[in-house]
Amino acid sequence: MCGIVGILSKNNDDVVSDIINGLEKLEYRGYDSAGVAVVGDGELKRVRTVGKLNNLADKLKVNPVKGGVGIGHTRWATHGKATEENAHPMVTKDVALVHNGIIENYKELKADLLQKGYGFTSQTDSEVAAVYLQMELDSGLSPREAFREMIKAVRGTYAFLAIFKTCPDMIFCARNKSPVAVGFGDNMCVGSDASSISANCSEIVYLDDGDYAEITKDGATFFDSNLNVVEKSRVAVTDDLVNSGKGEYSHYMIKEIMEQPSAIRKTLLGNDVPRDFFKGISRILILACGTSYHAGLVGKYWFEKYLRLPTHVEIASEYRYRSPVIEDNTLALVITQSGETIDTLEAMEYVRRNNVTCKLAAITNVLNSAISRSADFVFHTEAGVEIGVASTKAFTAQLTVLAKLAFSKNPELLNQLQNLPQVCENSLLLKEDIDKIAFKIKDCVNAIYLGRDNLYPIALEGALKLKEISYIHAEGFAAGEMKHGPIALIDDVVPVICLCPSGNMFDKMFSNIQVAQARGKNVIVFTDTTGAESFDGSVEKIVLPSINEELYPILYSIPLQLLAYMVTVLKGEDVDKPRNLAKSVTVE
Ligand code: G6P
Repeated sequence: MCGIVGILSKNNDDVVSDIINGLEKLEYRGYDSAGVAVVGDGELKRVRTVGKLNNLADKLKVNPVKGGVGIGHTRWATHGKATEENAHPMVTKDVALVHNGIIENYKELKADLLQKGYGFTSQTDSEVAAVYLQMELDSGLSPREAFREMIKAVRGTYAFLAIFKTCPDMIFCARNKSPVAVGFGDNMCVGSDASSISANCSEIVYLDDGDYAEITKDGATFFDSNLNVVEKSRVAVTDDLVNSGKGEYSHYMIKEIMEQPSAIRKTLLGNDVPRDFFKGISRILILACGTSYHAGLVGKYWFEKYLRLPTHVEIASEYRYRSPVIEDNTLALVITQSGETIDTLEAMEYVRRNNVTCKLAAITNVLNSAISRSADFVFHTEAGVEIGVASTKAFTAQLTVLAKLAFSKNPELLNQLQNLPQVCENSLLLKEDIDKIAFKIKDCVNAIYLGRDNLYPIALEGALKLKEISYIHAEGFAAGEMKHGPIALIDDVVPVICLCPSGNMFDKMFSNIQVAQARGKNVIVFTDTTGAESFDGSVEKIVLPSINEELYPILYSIPLQLLAYMVTVLKGEDVDKPRNLAKSVTVE
């Protein structure tokens, strides 16, 4: 979380607007405050604001700063509230620094610095890194020596960028568990991802954990954690790494919802499962967070049914703290859009450390992410860059990979998968019908989502989508479990959103819906043509195209995404940047 950008102009041109453009691409990482600092005319200058980046851009119009080297930050607050004092860059007399991550030993470092007479102006952990650099400079060290001492002293996770008043032709950067990409092009640049620097560069080097780099106008020198110079391979900046903007759409989320048929099509084209992939595997352990966790829950239904492999799905943030039993020959499959979620990464590393017989595979949407690079085997969802904080196309692409894995020994189902892009395309045509439902439920305070079998996880995901962007309290339940408690929530007002297509579970689900209808007046059913015949006019119906019932989780995700989107638009909330959330979660 938090986005960082630094630019060093080769011709001493002002870099501020390029930094702001780069930060705009990183707002998915947080938007509690933003700031920029430059070295210009031999001075360090900084402008910061609370809130989203447009506030910073407005402030810069009134108080412009200019410089040929600069760094910027968009914050997701961890230590200290979202105030201007806590906004980055952190600046001392001679140093400006931005940080993404958490400095775990900041209290001891701060106490020591305070004792030495250094003052602090923020409540952040990050400020200790800037003040530490200042202390080292004051003791006579060069910027390079000071930076090396600072990264030796801090413990925790970080992506740091620092610029020095006395050294205006350099940017220093370092990485431990938070991403850093260094870009080569007309200018030298560095950022949290490729998109943030792609306008200025054609090739990228990704830092590994423990690396640090010195960026000059002539290029960059990379060092490993032992301070040995290391050669790193450059990758070309290609379209799939770059956020191409919202295009004709008003929000990223709706653009990304609409892109799903193509994302699924591309994901189906790749990701062939090696013939011996499951050889010697006796069980599957899925580790993930948030929406990716819900994809994992669907995977469990498919893996157990079609591979007959016992499958456990674990919330990554809980997993490694409860002394789990890791059985031999487990396939540990981590699912992550960003490939950076620290809980997921750490859970995977925990498995690696504790049982060498396990195979570590990842499903990620970001090549070169920490998890992609660390896993033994990677399946790449071809969803393209996803910017909306609420995951949509990455989720259905994850499900597509899971389906390819689960059905890898079932040619008939693999064949059925080929129908998905077209059927999903058809489901998008239901947008107007769904908009009407959205209008009806937009003012509700609570909402209930019900599903059974492989649609139970989709009920969970539908509820998460609604609550995370519209702030309506929504919960998903296994419909059969409703009678054990959740039924008490049903009244005439609360929308009860039911996933009830035809198939094996139809009769059971239909009965659950009758029970809900006997107690409430606001039942909405997502079904297919055959299923719809059983419902009279007392329920609202959305009728989806027909497809093999194993593929329902992918298809039925789409109308629920559209519903959450439209409710949020009608409520006037910020669809792509919901409060308190960030897309890439690099803190535990
Ligand atoms: C955040 C995002 C969610 C995402 C979760 C896991 O909470 O807002 O959309 O599902 O992180 O992220 P990952 O990148 O690991 O899938």
